[in-house]
Amino acid sequence: DWNMGDFADQMIAAIAEKVGDKNVLCGLSGGVDSSVAATLVHKAVGNQLTCIFVDHGLLRKNEGDEVEKVFADEFHMNFIRVDAKARFMNRLRGVSDPETKRKIIGEEFIRVFEEEASKLSGIEYLVQGTVYPDVIESGTDTAEVIKSHHNVGGLPEDMQFSLIEPLRDLFKDEVRKVGLEIGVPEHIVWRQPFPGPGLAIRILGEITEEALHLVSESDAILRDEISKAGLDRDVWQYFTVLPNIRSVGVMGDERTYSHAIGIRAVTSIDGMTSDWARIPYEVLDKISSRIVNEVHGVNRILYDVTSKPPSTIEWE
Ligand code: XMP
Repeated sequence: DWNMGDFADQMIAAIAEKVGDKNVLCGLSGGVDSSVAATLVHKAVGNQLTCIFVDHGLLRKNEGDEVEKVFADEFHMNFIRVDAKARFMNRLRGVSDPETKRKIIGEEFIRVFEEEASKLSGIEYLVQGTVYPDVIESGTDTAEVIKSHHNVGGLPEDMQFSLIEPLRDLFKDEVRKVGLEIGVPEHIVWRQPFPGPGLAIRILGEITEEALHLVSESDAILRDEISKAGLDRDVWQYFTVLPNIRSVGVMGDERTYSHAIGIRAVTSIDGMTSDWARIPYEVLDKISSRIVNEVHGVNRILYDVTSKPPSTIEWE
């Protein structure tokens, strides 16, 4: 029985020895893997580590601030937050095809990361939050397709860094245990998966400020209620989508013609297959009435009751 506290101590010592007095760079997303990897390296080499957090403006409500608070304010890491929303919105204007969105976001992400990285000097190592399932996956052609689809292999090719991958031998549950051992906050360790392209693939059609507002506000309400109901560790992923349809409703004496919001909540082991989560009706009712009351421009709530396959978890 491999103790994760011992694993962390040994890994920290090994990283310190490998890195010596060199400098290390990490692309931090605030997800479980990159957060735990960065924290291990920070414990090993302190200020020799610099983390770059690219905020593409497609994150969930308050997410950027929360990540900054943990790593900059609490852990005192060298933490560079790049506010790149305008760049992403510019390139995404008029784009509604799902794969084109992914491609643009993946490309722009690497560009922004490279620009920031090139301002730093003397970097020898790059931290990656690769976990064991990624290592297995990359053995086959199918996996390469899956990887490029999910842009997890987004390592700039012309950057000459040696890799540090402290989580390479671990499964997700082990990564979580290590994270808790080394003091990564629970809200990060237990964070639900969040796709690289972010809210862009939860807005069907063009990404506008209004669409982002509707999705991020409704999603914040959903997360709040799921957490109040104590369901956040049972449901694998839960989020809202904007299907880009409007329908007629009534509010007071007025007819409305407003947006519908879809709720997607699934149970899963690894994201490869999933079932829709049986969220109690009372919880759904609370979520529904809060969203229509609090998010101006929404008058109808839908619940997605399809499994994967034939659906996917995301809507794009
Ligand atoms: P699907 O929608 O394919 O999603 O059933 C399976 C899991 O992968 C996540 N996902 C992505 N993650 N970039 C990512 O980093 C992407 O383009 C992407 N598309 C889907 C999804 O959130 C789910 O956990």
